[in-house]
Amino acid sequence: MSQSKKSREQWGSRIGLILAVAGNAIGLGNFLRFPVQAAQNGGGAFMIPYFIAFLLLGIPLMWIEWGIGRYGGKFRHGSAPGMFDVLWNHPLAKYLGATGLFISLTIMIYYTYIESWTLGYSIFSITKLYFVDNPTFENMKGFLHSYQGIVEGHSFDSLWTAYIIMLITFTINFFVLYKGISAGIEKLAKIAMPLLFIFAVILVIRVFTLGTPDPSKPEFSVWNGFAFIWNPDFSKLDDPKIWLAAAGQIFFTLSVGMGTIHAYASYLKPKDDIALSGLSTAATNEFAEVVLGGSIAIPVAVAFFGVTATQEIAQGGAFNLGFVSMPIIFQKLPLGEVFGFLWFLLLFFAGITSSVAMGQPIIAFLEDEFGFSRKKATTVLAVFTLICVQFVVFLLKFGFLDEMDYWAGTFGLVVFALIETILFMWVFGADKAFEEINSGGDIKIPVFFKYIMKYVTPLILMVIMIWWLINDAIPTLLLYNVSDEKVPYIWGARILMLIILFVILFMIHIAWKNRELNKHMEVK
Ligand code: PHE
Repeated sequence: MSQSKKSREQWGSRIGLILAVAGNAIGLGNFLRFPVQAAQNGGGAFMIPYFIAFLLLGIPLMWIEWGIGRYGGKFRHGSAPGMFDVLWNHPLAKYLGATGLFISLTIMIYYTYIESWTLGYSIFSITKLYFVDNPTFENMKGFLHSYQGIVEGHSFDSLWTAYIIMLITFTINFFVLYKGISAGIEKLAKIAMPLLFIFAVILVIRVFTLGTPDPSKPEFSVWNGFAFIWNPDFSKLDDPKIWLAAAGQIFFTLSVGMGTIHAYASYLKPKDDIALSGLSTAATNEFAEVVLGGSIAIPVAVAFFGVTATQEIAQGGAFNLGFVSMPIIFQKLPLGEVFGFLWFLLLFFAGITSSVAMGQPIIAFLEDEFGFSRKKATTVLAVFTLICVQFVVFLLKFGFLDEMDYWAGTFGLVVFALIETILFMWVFGADKAFEEINSGGDIKIPVFFKYIMKYVTPLILMVIMIWWLINDAIPTLLLYNVSDEKVPYIWGARILMLIILFVILFMIHIAWKNRELNKHMEVK
């Protein structure tokens, strides 16, 4: 470490850090993905595998990632390549870290676009743009699809509205990233997170006080909604799919397996607590997910459409629930435009505090390994993501986004989590790793977690990876169940991802080569 380098950025306060990491974790996944997953996979029974996955995968990985992150930060590394390099003294280690950059960057590209829809819809709610005399699923789907450019000439003549709102959303994201850790990300979290909780509580109270909106249909009640989402269907528990869905949700919602937690933790001081902070951010995320996320979209859908229709909505996925069924409900509620505004703004805040986290690893990589200024690093990221997002925006209807979401947002997470767990708990060593996680801690982590992290977590990760490989990844790769017209675009998405990966690998190569050269110069 050369002394001449200026000091690394730091978090301003403990509460700011916790809010920022909670903001990273709490995202669209909590309010859209979770209720849909629970409803699709056995309701209350889903909570059993979900909770087990939280204990055996979620919490251990959270601690592992905070641990790797703070440790890497000591050596001025804010992204996975440098961190893996200090964990494992082997030329390959840094290249394994490419996964961390690839995943967060790829997810950022499409996630920020989805986030921009929530911003758009908050404006469309307050201005009542999607309000019609007789709102139906067809109507609202038409509105959404014309906004996204999937159908022509329903409510929007072209994709330009979506395009401009996408640009605005990216600009806000880059602005926050450009401001830096404390003045950007932390400040955003301190504003957005309290508002998010206030909006969520208002919406939950509104849902609880709904009762039976249409007295002539007593079975359409919010209580049946809660019964629907929480009634345990134990017969489903012997289906491995439910267990995999639960594990997948835990990954996505806690933002583990992506490289973003590491980046945030790298700005800690070596003696800062991570044991309690890691646990509290995980717990905050679970509160936001299970209590708040579980009490809005699904119960309200049952109150207005009944159980059968809600089941169909849930089968249709998270976007159907958020952008089609919710807008219908807002049109039927008194002051619905205000509740709609709050709902979509809540989603926007949840989204933006996550998407900035996805940008941070690349920025840290450019700053730490190439000596770029924050401004230069943000500009490079901005140009690169804006080029890539064009494909996502214009080729949405051909499954471009879904393909990226599968490889980076689902399969990739398990691969990265497995690599980091093995590196930290086996190569670096379980005793050292556990000590590292506990050092400076405000709580002492029970020692059995060391064994969970060393044996149980990687074993489960391996089982999940192999299962997904056989049942999903290979059929997806071989394009089973894909209509012919989509095939060229799906290949397009794959080529784009390969390009992203190769650019990252090449840059890692250059960065380390430069470092070797510098070392020689210093010696001479
Ligand atoms: N955890 C976020 C959510 O629940 C998603 C996310 C993915 C955040 C990747 C950061 C990195 O929506």
